Amino acid sequence: WSKRLYCSAAKRIRVHDALNSPETGSTIRIQGWVRSVRSQKHNVFLHVSDGSSLQPLQVVANSDLNTRDLTFGCAVSVTGSLEKSPSKKQHVELQASRIEVIGECNPVEFPLKIKGHHSLEYIRQFPHLRCRTNAFSSLLRIRSQATAAIHSYFRDSNFVEIHTPVITSNDCEGAGELFQVEPTGNEWNSDKENPHFFSVPAYLTVSGQLHLEVMAGAFPAVYTFGPTFRAENSQTRRHLAEFYMVEAEIAFTDSLKDLMKVMEGLFKRTTENLLSHCAEDVELFHKYISPGCKEQVDLMMKRSFNVISYTEAIDILKRSSEQFAFKPEWGCDLQTEHEKYIVQHCGNVPVFVTDYPYELKPFYARDNQDQPQHTAAAVDLLVPGVGELCGGSLREERLELLRTRLAQTGLQDTYAWYLQLREFGSVPHGGFGMGFERYLQCVLGIDNIKDTIPFARFSHSCVL
Ligand code: 4AD
Ligand code: MG
Repeated sequence: WSKRLYCSAAKRIRVHDALNSPETGSTIRIQGWVRSVRSQKHNVFLHVSDGSSLQPLQVVANSDLNTRDLTFGCAVSVTGSLEKSPSKKQHVELQASRIEVIGECNPVEFPLKIKGHHSLEYIRQFPHLRCRTNAFSSLLRIRSQATAAIHSYFRDSNFVEIHTPVITSNDCEGAGELFQVEPTGNEWNSDKENPHFFSVPAYLTVSGQLHLEVMAGAFPAVYTFGPTFRAENSQTRRHLAEFYMVEAEIAFTDSLKDLMKVMEGLFKRTTENLLSHCAEDVELFHKYISPGCKEQVDLMMKRSFNVISYTEAIDILKRSSEQFAFKPEWGCDLQTEHEKYIVQHCGNVPVFVTDYPYELKPFYARDNQDQPQHTAAAVDLLVPGVGELCGGSLREERLELLRTRLAQTGLQDTYAWYLQLREFGSVPHGGFGMGFERYLQCVLGIDNIKDTIPFARFSHSCVL
């Protein structure tokens, strides 16, 4: 293999760099996959992609070269001279002097066909092959750039990145949506009835928040960005069993405004970065997959996000109560249909909904101590097309209130360490989590969350 792959001495460059090369006339080598083959009398025209850009590089090969095995989908190494292209469609083309087929591909059996664009739904059937399509390779480049942009945003804002654990003993959200971790061999379990992680209960994390709160006892601002797991047995367009969450925690704050500022900044700076660094890839989604999304994104970038209270949101919903399958009442959790309506009502610009009923929120949410409509200092960010994108709150830093709430649910022993955080140098603090896949859904107009992640895990599905 190495002999075949490295026999050409020409400098290997990426398709992206070849397409953007200011100079022509040099001999180069590219390696990639054939996206189209067109034969004429004397020449064969190929489009070759290597994942570095949406646009493929056109290769022109004289039929005398080894062109027989060139088919749609095969892997090739092409050496040639990079020349100015006579066609208006591309600025340069590669005039091949040598072509090697590294990996053959039978185009009849290859599930991705040459002609026509496949829908995201169609290519979802082939999780091992969909990265070879234009749409999914664009998605993956965007996802990679958005990841870098998120890290830049936090770094520029002086947040310290914390690697929170994937295996944990806590159910941060208290919703019981945990995957339990157990070894396949059971020699470590003293309790054979309840298999555990080396004889102690352990789960895949539902949120890194509590670990970030530990760190907010030593750093003013921290964040984490990693995989998160929820045993949600529901098949919806916005739920996965494994998703990536960006979480931030800020110390020395007693105001939801500080959290909202970070959420809006994170959303806008990340999106700005994508629009400038992945313009071509984003355009593919905005032009061919989700018409109307570009205008939507432009609007979100221009406007300040709205802020309304949960109580105001319920009043708005009640005025149009007849529209909803689930009738809105003060005290109910907002349903997706409610969230979408609120966003539309606010001019299709993201909306922060603040101060939710206390009973709806987990034990850590800070009590607003308001009567009779008892609320917690919690905030969700709702966005067009998706609904809830972020969830956050101020955390209960008052020892006695927290102790009482934990005692009500019998969790005071489990969270003894969490209570201790409030005893030793406790400060008012708060944070939020943003679903990364939902962010991509919103900015790219992707209808189904399964099309935003390389390998989707959802109820009853874990292929590959
Ligand atoms: O609202 P959630 O459950 O909040 C928390 O987990 C907090 N502990 C975060 C924090 O304050 N540090 O989840 C946060 C976000 C949601 O708003 C949603 O975007 C996303 O995570 N999310 C999901 N995304 C995909 N699939 C699922 N099953 C999701 N569950 C939550
Ligand atoms: Mg939530």
